[in-house]
Amino acid sequence: MEIKKLDLTYCEMLAEIDKACMSVPYSVSMFENELKNNTCYLGAFYDGTLIAYGGMWFVADEGQITNIVVIESHRRRGIGKKILNELEFCAKEKGMSVLNLEVRETNYKAISLYEKNGFIRDGFRKNYYKSPTENAVLMSKKIIH
Ligand SMILES: CC(C)(COP(=O)(O)OP(=O)(O)OC[C@H]1O[C@@H](n2cnc3c(N)ncnc32)[C@H](O)[C@@H]1OP(=O)(O)O)[C@@H](O)C(=O)NCCC(=O)NCCS
Repeated sequence: MEIKKLDLTYCEMLAEIDKACMSVPYSVSMFENELKNNTCYLGAFYDGTLIAYGGMWFVADEGQITNIVVIESHRRRGIGKKILNELEFCAKEKGMSVLNLEVRETNYKAISLYEKNGFIRDGFRKNYYKSPTENAVLMSKKIIH
């Protein structure tokens, strides 16, 4: 498996992964907008096929993780953790001082992934998500330079 930075040519594949895995998927044009901005999108490839991605915005000195998604058939093999670690490395290289993210309150798999990798819960947003409506847990991790 190889992890590499993604460019605009991968937007259709990103949208396909989201369509299969997310209740509110990003469209191709939404991914294009993401990749044109001050972001870092990483993809994991298995036999040349994109099987997972992670995205992050850079806002001042903060890395805002937008999502980490692994296609169902490749989960529980450490790929989500690898992408998270690579996003952190990318944020560190860019001089960011903290990583932030939001996650659905019932998404115990993702919360466990983040907590095992040093994120703490430090906020809450009521009814933040739609389809289905759900609270968000805010999490963060300081980056040590
Ligand atoms: C959350 C997600 C990215 C995890 O990816 P993954 O490659 O399966 O995760 P990993 O194999 O790297 O597992 C890392 C840790 O995540 C947690 N985890 C992952 N899957 C889990 C499961 N089915 N049950 C419980 N914990 C789980 C565990 O803490 C695990 O550590 P462990 O293996 O030591 O127990 C994946 O389930 C996914 O794509 N979900 C749908 C999209 C999503 O919800 N993304 C997060 C949005 S904020």
